[in-house]
Amino acid sequence: MSREGRDLLQLRGLSRVEVEKLLEAAAAHKRARKAGQIRPVLAHKVVANVFFEDSTRTRSSFEIAARLLGADVLNWTAKGSSVAKGETLLDTVRNIDMMGPAAMVMRHSSSGAAALVSRHVRAAVVNAGDGTHEHPSQGLLDAFTLREKLGPDLSGKQVLIVGDIVHSRVARSNVHCLRLLGAEVVLCGPPTLLPKSLEALGAQVTWELDRALPSADAVMMLRIQLERQGQGLFPSPRDYARMYGLNATRAAKMKPGAVVLHPGPMNRGLEIASEVADGERSVIFDQVENGVAVRMAVLERACA
Ligand code: CP
Repeated sequence: MSREGRDLLQLRGLSRVEVEKLLEAAAAHKRARKAGQIRPVLAHKVVANVFFEDSTRTRSSFEIAARLLGADVLNWTAKGSSVAKGETLLDTVRNIDMMGPAAMVMRHSSSGAAALVSRHVRAAVVNAGDGTHEHPSQGLLDAFTLREKLGPDLSGKQVLIVGDIVHSRVARSNVHCLRLLGAEVVLCGPPTLLPKSLEALGAQVTWELDRALPSADAVMMLRIQLERQGQGLFPSPRDYARMYGLNATRAAKMKPGAVVLHPGPMNRGLEIASEVADGERSVIFDQVENGVAVRMAVLERACA
């Protein structure tokens, strides 16, 4: 397979067939794991996790996915590396590449970093989050979870994504993936976090959460990036929670059967109340479980 067919840099531009193939492969991996019948298709291959930014879910689940498929795993993080001595991004990844990984799973704070690296290494590159651009395996695991909970055909289902859309790579990957699968996507947040220009992604845009909630089949709450609060993007965390937080009173306005997602990490009490995060509508920990199966499918494709 060409390297274009093995890299996973973004969901934008993938075909519906390619996305459905990955989701079906993930479903097969989930069934095989439950049955204790995983085949070690990545035996004798090395997967390098190359994380310039922190992560709990993505890095751990790529590691577990790789090991379940029989691969050896290198877990490299910028902390404790020669980046502290001034080594550049490209020198870092070229050095790791020379050690022979079949795939490099990479997270970086700059949008476009994974695409840049893919032009300089032999390993297939899997983008595990680049700046505010995309987080493709997150978009896939969210779609996988939605198909599991709402039914395999997402056509006409309405997914409401709420919060700091402007900085969210998760939101971008979700818009591309969900639109491809026929879902209707509504983006919601305060105007400072949701410029109308984002309608260009093919989603509807609203600033009114209480009006948007009752028609949604799924509500995805995004993390408020508290580190950006110096920029005055909303008056205070308390005001944000009052206007845009998903608490039990608001969740009661949701449709019967509608589900709540969050990519993590959660700010409990800010964008989501604990009673909702741990409540009966929440599929947040199902997302994490499904992340392993989805990443098995992504790695199998990357190492083909
Ligand atoms: N959802 C997600 O990317 O979580 P981590 O930052 O913990 O990997």
